[in-house]
Amino acid sequence: MSKKSVLVTGGAGYIGSHVVRQLGEAGERVVTLDNLSTGFADAVLYGDLIEGNTGDQERVNQILNDYNVDTVLHFAAHTIVPESVSNPLKYYGNNTCNSRSLLECCQNHGVKNFIFSSTAAVYGMPKDGLAKEDTPLAPINAYGTSKLMTEWMLRDLSAASELNYVALRYFNVAGSDPESRIGQSTPNATLLIKVACEAAVGKREQIYIFGTDYATPDGTGIRDYIHVEDLADAHLKALDYLRKGGESTIVNCGYSHGYSVREVLEMVEQVNGKPLKIIEQDRRPGDPPSLVANTDKIRKLFNWTPRYDDLEAITRSSLNWEKKLLERG
Ligand code: UD1
Repeated sequence: MSKKSVLVTGGAGYIGSHVVRQLGEAGERVVTLDNLSTGFADAVLYGDLIEGNTGDQERVNQILNDYNVDTVLHFAAHTIVPESVSNPLKYYGNNTCNSRSLLECCQNHGVKNFIFSSTAAVYGMPKDGLAKEDTPLAPINAYGTSKLMTEWMLRDLSAASELNYVALRYFNVAGSDPESRIGQSTPNATLLIKVACEAAVGKREQIYIFGTDYATPDGTGIRDYIHVEDLADAHLKALDYLRKGGESTIVNCGYSHGYSVREVLEMVEQVNGKPLKIIEQDRRPGDPPSLVANTDKIRKLFNWTPRYDDLEAITRSSLNWEKKLLERG
């Protein structure tokens, strides 16, 4: 195979599958490696899907060789924050050790470009609720720490080798493919928009607000929600940047403004045309009152302009996907 390929680990998962679709549409040769523990084979709309673990060096070496891979996008990870607190070694094993193993294969094969799914969880609880890339890093759970350790490995490896990387720190991702071919299918979801849409279509009886006494305008937590289509596009922009010789870097992915839990739930009710059964509860441990990205860097460096910076559009696409899941049974 002479044409270079892009390897996507976790390409059968929620965000990975949207990136695979956009890469495929852009004419890239894509190969996905996914162990299908939380991903779905039918979510991979372009290229080959190879079932396997990121930590399986024999398998990874073979893919890097067979497909002539010059770029790796690394999504495969565990992502449930509370689980990372109760079972930290699961997170350090899959998110940190397997990333190290993958990086070793990349180094041995001379992979040039590496794009890494990092998270806003590396910031922990910034004082004013605003996170810039140089805001001090202070993760408060093993999920955030496991991702930060991979950022550090990338920093050191890129300084010592030819590999260049972009780490994308995702804020709160929601929404789905405009044609509802793929979306977030994770069972036992905990993320607000997903859970609220499940309640809207009747999969859940009610939705809980975790904390109504925060020092925010309406007392509920504020987050920076980004549409998965804009986030996927940020990966393609990162790829373009690296291919043009861009230096290794880290960028926030969000919209630079947030919505409260109440605003999100009101939007779900409005788009769905029905009230939700909302129950107010105590704060969830470990939740910052507000977490919003400063996104000046990604906009300037990658010339990235979001197309779906609109809570209604995000909510509508999440709800459409939830309805589709319900039809499928
Ligand atoms: C998510 C990410 C985390 C990232 C953060 C960035 C995952 C698993 N977590 O966490 O990695 O650092 O975004 O901001 O991807 N809420 C309710 N009721 C619910 C669910 C949530 O009131 O049923 C509230 C929460 O208290 C919080 C807000 O909604 O105020 C968002 O919570 P959630 O969707 O769980 O995301 P984060 O905890 O922000």
